[in-house]
Amino acid sequence: MAEQVRFGVVGLGAMGAGHCHYLRNLVPETELTAVCDTEVDRAQAMGEQYGVPFFTEPEAMFASGLIDAVLIATPHYFHAPLAIMAFQHGLHVLTEKPLCVTVSDADRMLAAARQSGKKFGIMYQMRTRPENRAARRLIEQGAIGEVRRTLLITAWYRTQAYYDSGGWRATWAGEGGGVLINQAPHYLDLFQWLGGLPARVFAQIRTRLHDIEVEDEAFALLEYPNGAHGYLYATTNEVPDENAIEICGDRGKLCLYNGKLEFWQFEHSIREFTFQSEEMWGSIHAERIEVPLETPPEGALRDHPAIIQNFARSILYDEALIAPGEEGLAVVELINALILSGKRGVPVSIPVDRAAYDALIAELKAQSRPKTRVREQHQTDPHLVR
Ligand SMILES: NC(=O)c1ccc[n+]([C@@H]2O[C@H](COP(=O)([O-])OP(=O)(O)OC[C@H]3O[C@@H](n4cnc5c(N)ncnc54)[C@H](O)[C@@H]3O)[C@@H](O)[C@H]2O)c1
Repeated sequence: MAEQVRFGVVGLGAMGAGHCHYLRNLVPETELTAVCDTEVDRAQAMGEQYGVPFFTEPEAMFASGLIDAVLIATPHYFHAPLAIMAFQHGLHVLTEKPLCVTVSDADRMLAAARQSGKKFGIMYQMRTRPENRAARRLIEQGAIGEVRRTLLITAWYRTQAYYDSGGWRATWAGEGGGVLINQAPHYLDLFQWLGGLPARVFAQIRTRLHDIEVEDEAFALLEYPNGAHGYLYATTNEVPDENAIEICGDRGKLCLYNGKLEFWQFEHSIREFTFQSEEMWGSIHAERIEVPLETPPEGALRDHPAIIQNFARSILYDEALIAPGEEGLAVVELINALILSGKRGVPVSIPVDRAAYDALIAELKAQSRPKTRVREQHQTDPHLVR
């Protein structure tokens, strides 16, 4: 038997249940050795299903000596305190997205990770997909050149029943945001992984369709440190799903449209050609290039199990992390900037002013009202389970 990392899962709802399955059945480098949920029935049922000890107090599981690593799959507000506690117990931490709710919590998580010297990963599973990896390689090779414009559309659909499925969902007190903090983070992560973080955003956020207190639609103008502009749109009000990223540069352009990568390489730099050409109607040839995608070996894992496997291998063999926890900060910066801008009606700079965001989230939490209509459901998204 190959070496295995002993994992405990904290938070055994829709996603945590999926992770227990991945750890036990799909990833050879891991073993599920403990589970924890503050709801005793859920903890006990999962413990019995997998034949492992169950806990209702995270700290008791962290101190049990039964686990080397913890996978955090609780609602977002608990990611930071639980990760910090786990690091203090000398555990490796893989957290669900988003990293946490506020940039000040993110700072504390990163400091605790650094201090512990343990591995720290985040579940940004879209980074494992061949088209996204190929896009990232193009960026690293400088194939796009200086960024001139970006675009992100991440449009998904959720029913009211989804929002009613948990008391924490879509509330400022329980979730700390809407589409920006729950559905958009995957594409916000790819967007910033490819195009970098803007220096300033000017956003509008609103609740357009659902009966919820947080935003189900957000749009923003982005301004990058070099003066380039971008546009971003996120919603849970649309069908069919659309996920589009465009990164237009001085030397090339890449588009990711619903999982398909397109790339154009320019014959000249736009900046140089514009002033060198003497032709009135001159233009730059943009050659469409087929970008070869890695073909994963037969039986290779993808998405969530692939992130778990890579995280386990980083512990066992020091394999480089696909999604290091520290890189989760960028998306929290972006989400906080968009919400702060949308709520205050002013442009907001990144890095976000920590005190200003803490003050806003405290205000929003104070206005937040417990839901009157909750019909609890914890089904793992059927698209995610293999
Ligand atoms: N990577 C992905 O594709 C993906 C998909 C879905 C959800 N998620 C993330 O997973 C997290 C959980 O979402 P979900 O849909 O599973 O929610 P859920 O409500 O179905 O499950 C959350 C579980 O956490 C438990 N819990 C709450 N506070 C706790 C605490 N302090 N300690 C221990 N357990 C606690 C609840 O009792 C519940 O069982 C969220 O952060 C979400 O963003 C990620």
